[in-house]
Amino acid sequence: MKVLIVGGGGREHAIACKCSESKRVSKLYAAPGNAGIAEVAECVDISVMDAPALVAFAKEKEIDLTIIGPDDPLVAGVADAFMAAGMRVFGPAKNAAIIEGSKAFSKDLMKKYGIPSAAYETFDNPDAALAYLETAKMPIVLKADGLALGKGVLICNNLEEAKEGVKTLMLDKQFGSAGDKIVIEEFMTGREVSVLCFCDGTHIKPMASAQDHKRAKDGDQGLNTGGMGTFSPSPFYTDEVDKFCKENIYQATMDAMKAEGRDFTGVLFCGLMLTEDGPKVLEYNARFGDPETQVVLPRMKNDIIDVFEACIDGKLDEIELDFEDKAAVCVVLASDGYPEHYEKGFVINGLDSFKDKDDYYVFHAGTKASDKGVLTNGGRVLGVTAKGSDLVEARANAYKATEWIDFENKYMRNDIGKAIDEQ
Ligand code: AMP
Ligand code: GLY
Repeated sequence: MKVLIVGGGGREHAIACKCSESKRVSKLYAAPGNAGIAEVAECVDISVMDAPALVAFAKEKEIDLTIIGPDDPLVAGVADAFMAAGMRVFGPAKNAAIIEGSKAFSKDLMKKYGIPSAAYETFDNPDAALAYLETAKMPIVLKADGLALGKGVLICNNLEEAKEGVKTLMLDKQFGSAGDKIVIEEFMTGREVSVLCFCDGTHIKPMASAQDHKRAKDGDQGLNTGGMGTFSPSPFYTDEVDKFCKENIYQATMDAMKAEGRDFTGVLFCGLMLTEDGPKVLEYNARFGDPETQVVLPRMKNDIIDVFEACIDGKLDEIELDFEDKAAVCVVLASDGYPEHYEKGFVINGLDSFKDKDDYYVFHAGTKASDKGVLTNGGRVLGVTAKGSDLVEARANAYKATEWIDFENKYMRNDIGKAIDEQ
């Protein structure tokens, strides 16, 4: 079977590695891929947003299955282009990906169907938003309605910050048209957990839980980033929490989307907050999480191609998802200065140390092949994942493996998975 993966980050490298383990795959392609993906797939230089070129390539190569990794092409309808061409694709159609593409849509959906989430109001007029804030309880959360590279969420501690936030999102348009509309939401406290779920339009099955560290610096300080590391499972995601979420969140969301005529096929990523009043949805994403995927997929025992196909064919109820009891920790190696200014183009040494070592993985995010070797080519450069018998061992193994890699301006957090020490 010939498989095409659309995307070129750490998430897609983890997906590519999992696909390459499948005996059913005879040839793997990635568009555009990266230097790491190139070790398991043939990379082609096509943009993730170029639907006509992607479909033409898939037709020419007689691709049997295409997997779309990132949010932008899904929200823009690239999966629809494959469906319209009669090709098999894993990833939601545009009318379902809106669950990530519009925060106002997802909040209204949760309200209509009684799915637990924070109280909120939506505004498309800055004056009305400012008037509302005058009497609102602080802290408060402002969210740009549209996609904003994960940066369109502002936590405001007081009225002054909140007013400044409305200006940033709606008047200065820091995230462009994503801020034409905003959601103003109640501030919640609790542990955050990421649960990625396979969906076939009707059935939904959660993968092993994970937790992300979004801030740039140790102790959850500094700016928000795309993610500095993850661990799986989350010790806070107990059987009781799982039962509650299966009953009140996951299936309820699938049913709600179906009732709206927006059957969701692909991965639904539920960002949860475990509050004193029970689990609530912080946000939905319409795709695998990054770097969550880099700890979740290495623990998965299933042939991932079987699972992708079951989702496309509406037969997910016939699949039993199976995850190893081992834990996994992923530490992101970034370029110093990320998420602001950083230099790139430095040679990366030590990548070969991971060859033939079970339980150790190096996923490429921002890298580039050159005649000097593999170079740094982005803010987040690599994700180093290791497994262990429990989270403490997995964490020690992951940090040991970060020492095998060397490049100029290498930066990482030193406390990934630290929450596990606090139990
Ligand atoms: P999002 O991009 O929606 O995941 O939001 C980014 C981060 O903002 C989340 O991971 C949370 O840490 C935080 N956040 C979002 N919504 C809320 C909320 N209602 N209360 C507290 N924190 C929030
Ligand atoms: N790690 C968060 C995300 O993928 O959006």
